[in-house]
Amino acid sequence: MNGDIRSYRGIEPQIGEHVYIDSRSVIVGDVHIGEHSSVWPLVAARGDVNQIRIGARTNVQDNSVLHVSRSSEGNPEGHPLIIGDDVTVGHHVMLHGCSIGNRVLIGMSAVIMDGAIIEDDVIIGAGSLVPPGKTLRSGYLYVGSPVKEARQLTEAERNFLPQSAANYVLLKEDYLLHVTSI
Ligand SMILES: CC(C)(COP(=O)(O)OP(=O)(O)OC[C@H]1O[C@@H](n2cnc3c(N)ncnc32)[C@H](O)[C@@H]1OP(=O)(O)O)[C@@H](O)C(=O)NCCC(=O)NCCS
Repeated sequence: MNGDIRSYRGIEPQIGEHVYIDSRSVIVGDVHIGEHSSVWPLVAARGDVNQIRIGARTNVQDNSVLHVSRSSEGNPEGHPLIIGDDVTVGHHVMLHGCSIGNRVLIGMSAVIMDGAIIEDDVIIGAGSLVPPGKTLRSGYLYVGSPVKEARQLTEAERNFLPQSAANYVLLKEDYLLHVTSI
């Protein structure tokens, strides 16, 4: 099943094998999505003034918005959006021009701004705001607006991070087989 996938200025999104893209999501321009990832209803991913890269087995849940910043005099690279492997992006998350490592869980309604770097194995609580340029270090839980380091992740939480991504790989397999427009 394909969403609303559009080329922009001749650049087409590149979608990996076994990806689920909901028919009511919009993906534009320079966007790559790795194998076994999933994009759920009402997601907008706009790779127009910079690139968006999404790794393998990553899920981007309903109503999330993914965008980027263009290059400027002080910042010739601009701010692309890079998302790693086995990442869970919760419902209604805003990711703008930031870099997300592997096995990260981004809680519902979080906002992550330009130039922020989220290292591998991090949980960001629901409703958190990560300000521009901030780095969240590997192995920690962060909550709040602006976000603060809360504590180290427990072993159970660290184990849950790839499990959460794996759960969504199973769910998207089921959707690929069983969801039907009527
Ligand atoms: C932060 C989170 C991981 C819980 O962490 P925790 O340490 O187990 O938190 P607890 O439930 O024990 O609560 C500890 C404190 O943090 C507060 N807290 C919990 N979640 C919070 C959040 N998202 N932001 C701010 N504070 C939060 C609690 O109110 C509590 O405060 P208190 O000590 O003053 O009473 C969880 O609440 C969360 O936000 N998970 C994200 C889930 C999600 O969105 N998943 C993706 C969609 S499927």
